[in-house]
Amino acid sequence: MSECITHVPVRKLNTGAVMPAIGLGTFGSDKYTPEQISAAVAGAIKAGYRMLDCASVYQNEDQIGEVLSALFAEGAVKREDLFITSKVWNDQHREVKKACLKSLDDLKLSYIDLYFVHWPFPNYHAPGCDGDSRNPDSKPFSVDEFMDTWRQCEELVDLGLVKAIGMSNMTVSKLEQVLPLCKIRPAALELECHPSFQQQELCEYAQKRNIVPIGFCPIGSPSRPERDRCEDDVVDMQLPEVISVANAHNIHPALVCIKWAVQRGLCTIPFSVKEAQYISNLKCTTEDPLTESEMRSLDGAERNCRLVKGQVFLWPGATDWKQLWE
Ligand SMILES: NC(=O)c1ccc[n+]([C@@H]2O[C@H](COP(=O)([O-])OP(=O)(O)OC[C@H]3O[C@@H](n4cnc5c(N)ncnc54)[C@H](OP(=O)(O)O)[C@@H]3O)[C@@H](O)[C@H]2O)c1
Repeated sequence: MSECITHVPVRKLNTGAVMPAIGLGTFGSDKYTPEQISAAVAGAIKAGYRMLDCASVYQNEDQIGEVLSALFAEGAVKREDLFITSKVWNDQHREVKKACLKSLDDLKLSYIDLYFVHWPFPNYHAPGCDGDSRNPDSKPFSVDEFMDTWRQCEELVDLGLVKAIGMSNMTVSKLEQVLPLCKIRPAALELECHPSFQQQELCEYAQKRNIVPIGFCPIGSPSRPERDRCEDDVVDMQLPEVISVANAHNIHPALVCIKWAVQRGLCTIPFSVKEAQYISNLKCTTEDPLTESEMRSLDGAERNCRLVKGQVFLWPGATDWKQLWE
């Protein structure tokens, strides 16, 4: 590897902290092993990545922790120069501190920069389950239950275990119900976001309230698990609007998706274990921006195509995944 990429755009959080506008996703989609992912984390940090999007349910925080410890020991990077997220999984909403301490232990860190409630439901499904699996204990969204979980997250900030807290997989309607009840408001909102699923309303809602949107599946998650694939799903990298901009810049369509996300003011967290991919993903945020008219032409790529529908979290009696997103 030749260079370490610097001058990556950043986002300022409502806590005052600064977060890079691009990080490395670490969900292996049941396809890539923890060893492949942790090796990519090491390579990515050496290439200049300073943000990692982790979660306990990705089942690789332990291996990522090993890599981070080695990087700190060899002086490749300092802890304070990294921005690391993690998330409490759905079966731990009643014991958030325990979940956070486990992530800290696995990641071998003394604090997490941004800790998310991964889903707003306490509905558990086993990692790697298939799309038809349902848990009979699943329940619809409850403000009281969610706020109980959020209070525990607020406590983590008070204890210094996490620097900021965030929500994920929310909707405007759910945010309207919970934001007025927060003692500590979320610093960021993780949401699915790519050209064919732009979530303009939710992004604007968050940005107006000083909550940074962090877009997941930014490239359209071409390697996502089988349970998240449907016949009608759109392939972002094949959309004519995306290809036309890619051709104009002589770049891969994946990089158009990343530039578009960053230029919309989001933070974006593309995943890759392939060195050439993760380096080009980072580098593209530092050079050759899209023009205003290209940004407007990409508005036209919207197809309302949600990829992570979440059907495995449906509760008894609920039949349509859209009920999760009301
Ligand atoms: N909060 C949540 O509920 C939630 C949900 C989903 C994801 N996430 C986070 O978001 C991250 C990213 O989402 P994702 O992994 O589903 O989707 P993604 O980043 O849109 O897609 C990743 C895939 O895109 C391909 N790719 C990456 N860079 C490329 C490039 N430069 N050129 C061509 N292809 C490229 C790779 O495919 P190949 O491997 O086939 O080469 C890679 O596996 C996750 O890792 C996770 O951290 C969070």
